[in-house]
Amino acid sequence: MKTFIVWFLALMLNLVSSQTFHWGPCPTPMVQPNFDLNRYLGKWYEIEKLPASFEKGTCIEANYSLRPDKTFKVLNVQTYKGKVRSTEGTAVVQDTKEPAKLGVSFSYFTPYSPYWVLSTDYNSALVYSCTDVLRIFHVDFAWILARTRTLPPETVYHAKEVFSREKIDVSRMAPTDQSKCDGGI
Ligand SMILES: *[C@@H]1O[C@H](CO)[C@@H](O)[C@H](O)[C@H]1NC(C)=O
Repeated sequence: MKTFIVWFLALMLNLVSSQTFHWGPCPTPMVQPNFDLNRYLGKWYEIEKLPASFEKGTCIEANYSLRPDKTFKVLNVQTYKGKVRSTEGTAVVQDTKEPAKLGVSFSYFTPYSPYWVLSTDYNSALVYSCTDVLRIFHVDFAWILARTRTLPPETVYHAKEVFSREKIDVSRMAPTDQSKCDGGI
């Protein structure tokens, strides 16, 4: 019965949200060594991502900045149905020994979701977020970000290789439309 409930839940989640889910617990990828959060701040454009219900728009970009209370402001902006929409969230380093493993929350009522920087040269970045559900299945998100609206195809190819090496399934990864964008944040 329990198996059935979990299976049913997984199916519903998948149907309703178009999120990516997989059986088993989250993979445990390596993250960027000596991650320098200060160099990571500022503006990023989304190049490709795994499907996410909260990111259906185009021209998706983010600006990370330091707040006086040492938390980080996350400002996400996207264009959806002809309107520019922004969402503000908060990121924190949960364990100073592992600065590349951030937590991000978009409201006071939701817990921090993982935001792991797997790899970055501060011009492009590979970000991963995975949540276990009872260790029976997991829902995950992955993003390729860059300081520019486009990246050379070989850089994207290499990024996907890195995800795959870490046992992250990026077969459903799709480009974000960054054409016909202007201004922004
Ligand atoms: C990012 O946000 C910070 C703080 O709000 C702001 O000072 C900065 O100009 C923004 N950067 C860009 C590139 O928009």
